[in-house]
Amino acid sequence: MSYQLTINGTSHELDVEGDMPLLWALRDELHLTGTKFGCGVAACGACTVQVDGVAVRSCSCPVEAADGAIITTIEGLGGPGGAMTTLQEAWTAHQVPQCGYCQSGMLMAVTALLAENPDPSDEDIDKGVSNVCRCGSYPRVRAAIRSVAQAIATQDATQDPTQAGATEVGEATSAEEM
Ligand code: FES
Ligand code: FES
Repeated sequence: MSYQLTINGTSHELDVEGDMPLLWALRDELHLTGTKFGCGVAACGACTVQVDGVAVRSCSCPVEAADGAIITTIEGLGGPGGAMTTLQEAWTAHQVPQCGYCQSGMLMAVTALLAENPDPSDEDIDKGVSNVCRCGSYPRVRAAIRSVAQAIATQDATQDPTQAGATEVGEATSAEEM
């Protein structure tokens, strides 16, 4: 059967089994390999993408459930011309990625959280971003999110803070990242 998915702004017609995990469709059919496989049972979050703006674990989302949806993957997260978003700049400034394996899923979950709640508390972050990081980057994740929230609070209200060219983010302090 054929399914229509809009992925990172491009419409795709996929002729696959309806119960194929969206993760397989992204990686094997469309070669969007930025989205990672971790556990396969919706537990780790490595495969997180956004489906109609909601963070979804694509290993456990059948293609048929995403038919007609607008999907964003890590490949679609950057700003115009490949520029980094404020969130990506914060990730760099705070040296969040260690091995990096969990990070595409982590960024998709954080982007969805910030779109809904631009100033999340630590509790909101823990609740909204339950992705597993075996390198223990959680304190850096929180620090980067806090700097983005600060940027959101101080910048022009009409500018999209998740997009490129927005406010500078603060440098990490070693104490909060250790
Ligand atoms: S691979 Fe999907 S949640 Fe772990
Ligand atoms: S950075 Fe290595 S698993 Fe998260």
